[in-house]
Amino acid sequence: MSKFFINGGNKLNGKIKISTSKNATLPILAASILAKGKVVIKDLPNFSDIDIMLKILSVIGCEVKRKNNSVIIDNNNIHSYELPSNLTKEVRASIFLMGPILAKFKKAKVSYPGGCNIGSRPIDLHLNGLRKLGAKIIEQHGFIHCDGANMKGNTVTLDFPSVGATENLIMTACITKGKTQIFNAAKEPEIVDLANFINAMGGKIKGAGSAIIEIEGVNELTGVEYKPIGDRIIAGTYLIATAMTGGKVELENIKPQHLACLIDKLKNSACNIEAKFDKIAIHSTGNYKALTSIDTHPFPGFATDLQAPIMAMQTLAKGTTIITENVFESRFKQVPELIRMGASINIKDKMAIITGQDTLYGAEVKAPDLRAGACLVLAGLVAKGYTTISDVYHIDRGYENIETQLAKLGADIKRI
Ligand code: EPZ
Repeated sequence: MSKFFINGGNKLNGKIKISTSKNATLPILAASILAKGKVVIKDLPNFSDIDIMLKILSVIGCEVKRKNNSVIIDNNNIHSYELPSNLTKEVRASIFLMGPILAKFKKAKVSYPGGCNIGSRPIDLHLNGLRKLGAKIIEQHGFIHCDGANMKGNTVTLDFPSVGATENLIMTACITKGKTQIFNAAKEPEIVDLANFINAMGGKIKGAGSAIIEIEGVNELTGVEYKPIGDRIIAGTYLIATAMTGGKVELENIKPQHLACLIDKLKNSACNIEAKFDKIAIHSTGNYKALTSIDTHPFPGFATDLQAPIMAMQTLAKGTTIITENVFESRFKQVPELIRMGASINIKDKMAIITGQDTLYGAEVKAPDLRAGACLVLAGLVAKGYTTISDVYHIDRGYENIETQLAKLGADIKRI
């Protein structure tokens, strides 16, 4: 198993093109089965979750052809409405296929996606929403059996603005007869990107990005070429890295409005940030005040996926910061590892209280999950001495060659 080996202390300077978004691409790949004819997704990012999603598409009968950094998906010969349980356990995002398969075949059999390190990850909002659209759903022996013979448009109100549930409902309703309204829908940029993709194929979706989404079911969608948005969580991670190390970095292929909350926080802690159309430039001295309080919320609030990265930054801030994780129930797995590096952090329920220190020290640490792993990379970049991070496969799920990208900016990091 590969590890990262980091010698801390270097500033970051230079330019980075941000990869296409993992969390936009995964539902878009799922939605590609709704179209008649070929779908081409351009600038496909190179994450292990994407590879597994493409494997699942080919197992159910899609013809999947990679060409340079695009993928061509031809779904004319899909032969199965059952999702292979071995693969669906590997990547949660396979649950995004439940809606499209059910809408297309009026049947679906999906195994329960595994929980993961950040929480139990229930799918009750997905299932209750589909039931509202008339799907008959039986959960038995770890499988979800769906019968969509009598589905038709309806009004669905989500108890929580779940990203996945909103995406599954959009992908189901867009080819289900009648009008569907989703109230308390998630507003993430990835939802807007999915709606734009489906509308480009002939869908009739209005209001994506707001709390009320209206969908008119159409009979047919036709394949298109599409380039999903840049990954706001990768971009946010590199902004925080630069804020911590000091230096001057410009990010390309990212919409500043997708990171408004983080940019505002970083500006308040002595970073100079310039946001242009699809670029963000940050200049930091590497010395910064504590942010005092950060609460994660669904978009446009502070992203839960940036909670661990911003925690790394606060361990060296001047002052105390309280981070409250309101979205997932156990997303502080990075804390024990940061404490091993000299951080001062206390957890009380959903709150982590971070007292800024002068120095972090290199140590042998283990990535507990994707974003906690990224947090440890950031801590290693500023720690005194050497940091070794194991289980970096977690980080590879959501960052494309993070070590080469950071090394290009001047970090002393290598994969061993
Ligand atoms: C998406 O997960 C992202 N994953 C997550 O990114 C992200 O953290 C999350 O949205 C929140 O922004 C992808 O897009 C592939 P949710 P998702 O449904 O859809 C509860 C990363 O690091 N909930 O909005 O699973 C759930 O337990 C990953 O890239 C229910 O209770 O998130 C959680 O507490 C991690 N019942 C909260 O809602 C449900 O049916 C938010 O979950 C569904 C969710």
